[in-house]
Formats: sequence, structure tokens, C-alpha cells
Amino acid sequence: MAKVSASILACDQTRIGEQVLEAERAGADLVHIDVMDGVYVENVTFGPQLVADLKKTTKLPLSVHMELLRPETFLPMFAKAGADIISFQLDACPNPIHMLREIRRAGIKAGLGIGPAYDVESLRYLLHHMDALILMSVEPGYGGQPFEESVYEKLARAREIMDETGCRVPISIDGGVNAVTGRRLMDAGADILIAGSSVFQADSITAAVKELKQL
Ligand code: DX5
Ligand code: ZN
Repeated sequence: MAKVSASILACDQTRIGEQVLEAERAGADLVHIDVMDGVYVENVTFGPQLVADLKKTTKLPLSVHMELLRPETFLPMFAKAGADIISFQLDACPNPIHMLREIRRAGIKAGLGIGPAYDVESLRYLLHHMDALILMSVEPGYGGQPFEESVYEKLARAREIMDETGCRVPISIDGGVNAVTGRRLMDAGADILIAGSSVFQADSITAAVKELKQL
């Protein structure tokens, strides 16, 4: 059975709390919160106040996905807000080992996101500092973008590197995940499906979460 991380970027922004609760009741495993700065990506999204408020709303772990430059400067405020997992983009941070250590030092699971244009080879040097991996199948910035098929190859390679190094961390796939791509991703060894549009833009959030969970 798939683990589902519901990405609130695709929520009706005036109803985030109630839509997250519906996803939780339907069986979602995590809440995925994309934090964008308008610099690393064009878009601007959520701040620490939303994380703090969601912490009071849902029992699900809050996974903050930093799609921004200089993630280290944002770490303290999202740690204080109650993030359970914090991931940042490999190409947005010149000292990723330092950043992963700082996240762990704050008592938070440390994750790394890798965009569709970048390879996964450096995971060999990073995995033992990591608790989570996000392989992105769309460019960071927006929901609803077309799915990049190259993620299958990277998923297979990431798993190989994990086997070779003996460091296994859960692999999430982020972007364009729906029942069709999700099925193939699970077959290819994904652990967590991060889904925005296919959950929150669906006619029924409940039915959409249940469908993904059954993959
Ligand atoms: C994109 C975000 C994703 C986004 C995925 O920058 O990282 O989490 O919500 O959206 P969908 O599922 O609509 O492709
Ligand atoms: Zn994301």
C-alpha cells in the first residue's frame, strides 16, 4: 500500500485546514508544504505561521519542502513552527551536508530534494546524513505541471546507490503524481507519493486519497 503525502499547494487556499482534515480522514500519511521564495522559483507560497497553525489542526507529520535559496536562513523559523521533516533542494544550497546536519540538530528529519534536471549520483556522499529523499518529477515552482518520465530512471539509480551504500531512506516522488503515474512509481520502488492536484483538485478529496493509498 502506498504512503500518500498530500501537497497543499493545490488546495483552495481559503480552506486549507478543512481540506487537510479531509485528506487525513481519508488516510493520507503526511502533509506536504511547499515553501517558495520568489527567487529560487518564481512563485511565492507559505510561511511558518501556516505550519504552526496546521500543527494544531492535524495529527499528520508536517513535511516542509523548501523551494528557496539559502535554506539555512529559513531553518530556525520552520523548526520553531513545528515542522517534522524539512527538505531543501540540492542545487539551492552550496553546503548540503552542513544543512542536513543543522536540520537534524534541530530535532527534525532531514530531507533532500533533487530536481528533474539533476542527477542522483551525489547521493552516495549524502545519504548517511539524510532521513528522506524527494525526487522531483516536475520543476519546482508550480503544481499541475507535466510529469517528467526521467524520474523512473533516477528512482532505480537512487535505489541502487542505497543498496550499494547500505543507507536506505524513504523515497518520495513529487510532481504529476496521479493514479496512473503512482501505480508505475510504486512498481518502480517509490515509498511515498506526494500528490497535489490529483488530490485537492479532484471532485472528491476522500476518493482521490483512497485511490492513491490502494496503489
Ligand atoms: C512543486 C511542488 C509540488 C507540487 C506538486 O514545486 O514541489 O509539491 O505540489 O503538484 P502536483 O501534484 O499538482 O504536480
Ligand atoms: Zn513539493
